[in-house]
Amino acid sequence: MNAESNVSRYSPDHDVDVRGDTITADRYITREWMELENKHLWPKVWHLGGVLAELEEPGDVIRHNFGKESVIMVRQEDGSIRAFYNTCPHRGNRLILGDATSVPRITCGYHNWQFDLDGTLSNVQDPDDFAGGNPCGKVHLAELRCDTWGPFVWWCMDDDVKPLHEWLAPYPEKLKGYGLENWVRVFNVSADCEFNWKIIRDNFNESYHLPTIHPELSTFINDGLPTTLFEMYPSGHNAMWMIGHQATTRTDMASGDVSPDLAGAAEAWGINPADYNGRTNEIRAAVIEAKRRLGPGRGYTNYDDMTDQQLVDYFHCTMFPNLTLTMSPEQCQILRTEPHPTDPEKCIFQHWCLYPPIERMKEIYTPVGMAPFEHDAIHRHSTYGDGVSLGFVADQDLSIGTTQQQGLNSRGFKGCLLPGQEKRVQRFHELLNDMVLGKD
Ligand code: FES
Ligand SMILES: [Fe+2]
Repeated sequence: MNAESNVSRYSPDHDVDVRGDTITADRYITREWMELENKHLWPKVWHLGGVLAELEEPGDVIRHNFGKESVIMVRQEDGSIRAFYNTCPHRGNRLILGDATSVPRITCGYHNWQFDLDGTLSNVQDPDDFAGGNPCGKVHLAELRCDTWGPFVWWCMDDDVKPLHEWLAPYPEKLKGYGLENWVRVFNVSADCEFNWKIIRDNFNESYHLPTIHPELSTFINDGLPTTLFEMYPSGHNAMWMIGHQATTRTDMASGDVSPDLAGAAEAWGINPADYNGRTNEIRAAVIEAKRRLGPGRGYTNYDDMTDQQLVDYFHCTMFPNLTLTMSPEQCQILRTEPHPTDPEKCIFQHWCLYPPIERMKEIYTPVGMAPFEHDAIHRHSTYGDGVSLGFVADQDLSIGTTQQQGLNSRGFKGCLLPGQEKRVQRFHELLNDMVLGKD
């Protein structure tokens, strides 16, 4: 409804008008909406399929199940990567059943048809028993688009969608300084959740929930509106820069003592927090100076290419429709929800964290505590609510999902009423409307 900017700070260069479409509950609840998205949304975007660390050798395969679909990405003999639908051309059996594997060729478990890594059928039982002659060499797995950016591999079902690097714009340029290419995915968790995938997308498209859902963040992240910058790009992606290493300006924390969290961040860079009591908001500049001076000697070679802002602040990059990268200089968080195969009131939540490789660093602090610094050191799938943590902050975000889904089912809910700072939520739904409504 109302989502024009008032006190919120939208970048003048990256602001977009919204129409004010009513965001009604049906999109979170009904099978009709789910089917519209399956038809008109999901084929029209690039999907993050996995990390290149799992595709090092020819024959390495990543499988990505998405809704009812399943896609495999395969490292080829020539070093390229190709993506195929995970379905056998014989009678449709799924070919690859695990998340990641390594195979000399792709073999179907039903009648043992075999495909070379490039998807060409190479071996069948009783080849002379086909009316058109031996199908080997003539039949291929159905292929889809595949490309890479940073440490990630992506796939897309539609040939008319822009090439990946254009589709990702402006992020390849804006994130260049972090040097993501060699970062390592240490944390890889996911969960089945009892709410529509868009519930958490909306949550990641706003920071209005921070004081209530994540109150402890306010001691070292400034969630005040005047300093939080929102950007919306023509591509449909949007971003938020939030000042880090500084307490919120929603209340006066600047003139008090340095909070324990902020003190810890300062001490890590050789700064005495007590020197900043009464002027806590000046710690941020001191950390920038210390990181520039000490970072390279500590192995943070990527600091040299970063702006001051990148060194201390949090850059939330939301890619339309369902992917968020939250960047700090020492951590890249991937947060994503994907639709359940059949139930519009369920989704799959995924949370990955990647870290820059630092010489001699054997352990790293992840959202669930210390872990060995190695690929997928923490890798698990759970059901949300069963007590397995998906990361402290993510647990807080997910905590509202089920009750919001329940509330959206009430006939008393008449559509969202948004403040200016939630304009990105409004825009998300208007883009969604444009893509899926009126198409059938
Ligand atoms: S369905 Fe794959 S070989 Fe028969
Ligand atoms: Fe949150």
